[in-house]
Amino acid sequence: MPFRTIIEPFRIHSVEAIDFPTAEQREAALRRAGYNLFNLQADEVIVDLLTDSGTGAMSSRQWAGMMMGDESYAGSRSFYRFRGAVAELTGFAEVIPTHQGRAAERILFEVAVHRGDVVPNNTHFDTTRANVEHQGGEARDLLCPEGHDPALLAPFKGNVDIAALERTIEEVGRERVPLVMVTVTNNSGGGQPVSMANLRAVRAVCDRHGIPLFLDACRFAENAWFVKTREEGYAEWTPGEIAREMFSLADGCTMSAKKDGLANIGGFLAMNDAKLAAACRNLLILTEGFPTYGGLAGYDLEAIAQGLHEVVDPLYLQYRIRSTAYLAEKVEAAGIPLVRPAGGHAVYLDAKALLRHLAPDQYPAQSLAVELYREGGVRGVEIGSVMFGRPGAGPGGTELPAEMELVRLAIPRRTYTQSHIDFVAEVVLAVAARASSLPGYRIVEQAPWLRHFTARFEPLA
Ligand code: F0G
Repeated sequence: MPFRTIIEPFRIHSVEAIDFPTAEQREAALRRAGYNLFNLQADEVIVDLLTDSGTGAMSSRQWAGMMMGDESYAGSRSFYRFRGAVAELTGFAEVIPTHQGRAAERILFEVAVHRGDVVPNNTHFDTTRANVEHQGGEARDLLCPEGHDPALLAPFKGNVDIAALERTIEEVGRERVPLVMVTVTNNSGGGQPVSMANLRAVRAVCDRHGIPLFLDACRFAENAWFVKTREEGYAEWTPGEIAREMFSLADGCTMSAKKDGLANIGGFLAMNDAKLAAACRNLLILTEGFPTYGGLAGYDLEAIAQGLHEVVDPLYLQYRIRSTAYLAEKVEAAGIPLVRPAGGHAVYLDAKALLRHLAPDQYPAQSLAVELYREGGVRGVEIGSVMFGRPGAGPGGTELPAEMELVRLAIPRRTYTQSHIDFVAEVVLAVAARASSLPGYRIVEQAPWLRHFTARFEPLA
């Protein structure tokens, strides 16, 4: 169509009212929450960009599909529909439903990863890292050099550093690398995509050493769209064809259907190795449920099967990627530092560059995230030293900071309109204008792992 404006390729069918807490109410909520935005009640938030996970709007076809859910304990019709959708999309022979992505990770790593093993990845997501470490393994991030520079413009900043992957395997020995993971798109590294050329290069390294390759496929469709629009040779491919090609380079995947499954809950583990799958199914039965439902209701399986179909629609993906870039453009035009180019599902503000007066152990990204809420009720999430700092691992027993201090504004799928996003940009600009006066924070309470979910903070004087 010859029009410039890319519109939402849907009409809104059902709406959900937003509460508008006052400035005083937001201040009280922050104090009660220990300045941890995970501790807020969602009704205290005006625009919720905490995550794109499970927060999207389902389509009328998904809701209709849910009415067709077969709740049989074993052999449910909905399972076969789900399995068919996953197999068609990925080509993997073994499909194991799980209640969400981390359950797939926990099961795969419990079977495959042993104490002392090293799992390479472009960048592990927090639950992925925690699940590797929970098995006594080391989660090693091997992101390409471009991915480490937030401001640098490059098309595939999620790529794996192939030379570093080779070095790692040589250094630790093939027998201590049970699998290689690649996260598409690379959530913890700014939602940046991985190119097909890079995936092929990872595959070649894995083949040379006989190591299986698994995709962390949460945002496979967004990655496919970036490949279509940025990588030579793919412009004429459909997103579904690109996705299929991506999966064909791997031996299996973990998936959170709460992202590119367009569902509110669910996930899966899929692979070609029948023996590995049998071991995974045994663990599934222990904690998730029978292998034809894996902790999900039959109606969830229906919603995911339909969601996987809708998510590769080019009109949907064009709108999706454009609406994220729209927010990034507004922020960038105001000279506010951010990860460039915009990620698929989120815009990542660079708090290290914006709050230069704060040291990493004063948690600049936490400070920025708190302030966005205080200013306009916008909830983002810290992806910095609160999430990835390592207490006691730095020189002299100090805390080793994360490499980047980011605030992620993740955009739920099909949920907010352009004016919501205009409002968010206004809030970001207002906070950025007084960035140099924002306080640092200290942690007053924390858990031994995944501390960002429950930690409590105090502003520094
Ligand atoms: N891998 C990646 C890349 C993720 O982004 C997530 C979840 C998971 C695995 C785990 O999936 O939540 O279904 O257990 N990311 C969400 C987020 C929570 O906010 O980015 P899950």
